[in-house]
Amino acid sequence: MSGVNEIRSTFLDFFAKNGHEVVSSSPLVPRNDPTLMFTNAGMVQFKNVFTGLEKRPYSRAVTAQKCVRAGGKHNDLDNVGYTARHHTFFEMLGNFSFGDYFKERAIELAWTLITKEYGLAKDRLLVTVYSEDEEAAGFWRKIAGLSDDRIIRISTSDNFWAMGDTGPCGPCSEIFYDHGPGVAGGPPGSPEQDGDRFIEIWNLVFMQYEQVTKEERVSLPRPSIDTGMGLERIAAVLQGVHNNYEIDLFKALIRASVEATGVAAEGGQTASHRIIADHLRASSFLIADGVLPSNEGRGYVLRRIMRRAMRHAHLLGAVDPLLHRLVPALVREMGAAYPELVRAESLITETLRLEETRFRRTLARGLGLLEEATGTMSAGQSLDGETAFKLYDTYGFPLDLTQDALKARGIDVDTAGFATAMERQRAEARASWSGSGEAATETVWFALRERLGGTEFLGYETETAEGVVTALVKDGREVQALEAGESGALILNQTPFYGESGGQVGDTGLVSGAGVRARVTDTQKKADGLFVHLVTVEEGSLTVGAPLELVVDHGRRGKIRANHSATHLLHEALRQVLGTHVAQKGSMVSQDRLRFDFSHPKPVDDGELGEVQRIANRIILQDAPVVTRLMAVDEAIESGAMALFGEKYGDEVRVVSMGTAVEGEKAGKAYSVELCGGTHVGRTGEIGLVHLVNEGAVAAGVRRLEALTGEAARRHLDQQERRLKEIAATLKVSVADVAERVATLVEDRRKLERELAEVRKKLAMGGGGAAAAEVREIGGVKFLGRVAEGVAPKDLKGLVDEGKKQVGSGIVALIGVSEDGKAGVVVGVTDDLTARFSAVDLVRAASEALGGKGGGGRPDLAQAGGPDGAKAAEALAAVEAVLGGA
Ligand code: ALA
Repeated sequence: MSGVNEIRSTFLDFFAKNGHEVVSSSPLVPRNDPTLMFTNAGMVQFKNVFTGLEKRPYSRAVTAQKCVRAGGKHNDLDNVGYTARHHTFFEMLGNFSFGDYFKERAIELAWTLITKEYGLAKDRLLVTVYSEDEEAAGFWRKIAGLSDDRIIRISTSDNFWAMGDTGPCGPCSEIFYDHGPGVAGGPPGSPEQDGDRFIEIWNLVFMQYEQVTKEERVSLPRPSIDTGMGLERIAAVLQGVHNNYEIDLFKALIRASVEATGVAAEGGQTASHRIIADHLRASSFLIADGVLPSNEGRGYVLRRIMRRAMRHAHLLGAVDPLLHRLVPALVREMGAAYPELVRAESLITETLRLEETRFRRTLARGLGLLEEATGTMSAGQSLDGETAFKLYDTYGFPLDLTQDALKARGIDVDTAGFATAMERQRAEARASWSGSGEAATETVWFALRERLGGTEFLGYETETAEGVVTALVKDGREVQALEAGESGALILNQTPFYGESGGQVGDTGLVSGAGVRARVTDTQKKADGLFVHLVTVEEGSLTVGAPLELVVDHGRRGKIRANHSATHLLHEALRQVLGTHVAQKGSMVSQDRLRFDFSHPKPVDDGELGEVQRIANRIILQDAPVVTRLMAVDEAIESGAMALFGEKYGDEVRVVSMGTAVEGEKAGKAYSVELCGGTHVGRTGEIGLVHLVNEGAVAAGVRRLEALTGEAARRHLDQQERRLKEIAATLKVSVADVAERVATLVEDRRKLERELAEVRKKLAMGGGGAAAAEVREIGGVKFLGRVAEGVAPKDLKGLVDEGKKQVGSGIVALIGVSEDGKAGVVVGVTDDLTARFSAVDLVRAASEALGGKGGGGRPDLAQAGGPDGAKAAEALAAVEAVLGGA
């Protein structure tokens, strides 16, 4: 029995052999507890299984659970590095029974494991039980054969384990290891119990109750078991060392730190190496679980841990950023047990490197200021709050980093003064935004933002989580409750709902809790980081302080993610096809479609659109992972990430990359790299298909593309195909022959139209030379008059000229009636007669009869029109009348 990895797998295997389901560690950010900052015990993921709220297909489980105790209720940060057994990150081994076995079997299993599998000597072991729990004491006697002096009764809360103010709880029994008389300290319950001789290695909790409120405690549906054994502690015992930092795992990490800094592990700098090793683990696992450094909430706890380690790297004299160089050692030690560490290795490395690079810019100056302020102080004195605040505000020193820096000299920090300085700055900020002319309705968001801080967004990692209602707003005012039927805005401490930004629409979904259900119809981001859920309460009453289960509409979000990722693919494809002048001018990503506006001076032709579509779909077929990293803005842009000009970014940005370019200048390199805060698919293959449906202009020099992805694209193409098949069926040809057939039909139709026109013309003239027969004499002048159905006005002139030739000397009047019932009239007068008759006068007479006005032309040829083709015969008669009267 040696390494940590073996100790872990021995534990898991032992319980698996005894009918337990091996369950993976849950993430460090609890999905099922809105009040807990980090997962801090093995039972957290099973909380609702104990109370009967959640059912699982097994009633016995075993886990090695990642835990963080920093920030929030359990905070071990200050002690880490200076004690033998404090960690910010540790692993808790545990076995669980959900109404299956209880005390007797739990004790039997625990005793077998530590004495048989782990081989610990019985005479080194002793246990505690809750003072009222005679039953447990009896089992220890019976199963382990422990004498009464080795079963210690403890009456304090030390032996009654509760998860928090509420939740499952019960009496517990702890197993201690005795390091022997060589180490100072007494057994549990004795005045010397805090010494290091007797070390607790395993806590068996007999889960029997649920603390519903502070006052009310009820029995669980069935008695259950929850146990917790710190892996680092048991490893120390099994490896015969007294300090957790001397186990193989920590030795390997510290060795990496020693090699990178050239500073020995023993001697004055031991604490720094230990802090670095511990904080490296906490930071890396937190980053792997989706936490990124920020100035609020979980992200700030991470930043504090990272910066604390970074100051110690500085103390060790590391010239370059150190922590990220230790990541390979961590992955080597723990990557097999926690594959998420391997998956996130590059994200961890870059996040650590970035944070350390940035922090180093102010660290030395901050330490200089600290030295100046405390140089003459001695142990027992305090640094003033103003200076501590300045270090925080200007130099990025978290308060605990300053405290840690002064700890060795016994100097304290005036934390009350620090808080006062912080509050003063907030008040100034408040004054500046209320004076900045924000619309009155918007000020409520700023006030809430200031009071509650930004909402922690969990939606990159999960689409369901729990959250606590921190505020409710109706009609621009804060309220304590929203009742069934009412609509308003809901603010939570954390949320998986994406707030509309960067062109991506806000999430919708459901929130529910005890007796309450509300529909989220939209989510907006206000006042720099406040997520505002627009809700309609469907049942019960939504109240401030209530914990809620938050469920994003998964199907809708999936489509939005596909559309967002496809937008990135099209952006890059456009640059490849049209040129790098293409820059994003706007975008809209919804569940139905995506719209992308970009700079380009002319329409994108079909060939270019086809290319864009082809390139984007090629990357989809790569099924390439979509990788998100956190980078400094300047660094990201330098590295070629596409950013929006004029967009305001924070100091650090998410950089989303996908695919490998297969053609063009970028071939072999990352295909798309963009600054983006949106949500994306895990792999490009999830987009399925991207299909362009529209291209057009939105403004001078700006074009707009619209596209569909996945199922919507497929449905669109199905519909197009159906239409094509219908056409083919009508044409009675195969789909493949449709184009040719239609081209032939169009050509045939043109030919027929031409022929028809000819025929009509001929018909208009009475068919060949027969026209002569229709020539009459009116007042001694030859007159050829005729109504020609279906002859277009433009053809009339030519026919009149022909008629003039036929008559030799005379008048020709033709009235063409088109299919829509309108008439055109042309009158010709042969030259010899123009002195007596004007074609213009004659055409006017005809036009009047047709309901038209005037007309015009020359004395030998004039034309006019009129709306009333039915009066064609009268019009001819009118011309005749003028002739007759002349
Ligand atoms: N849940 C128990 C603990 O954390 C086992 O100690």
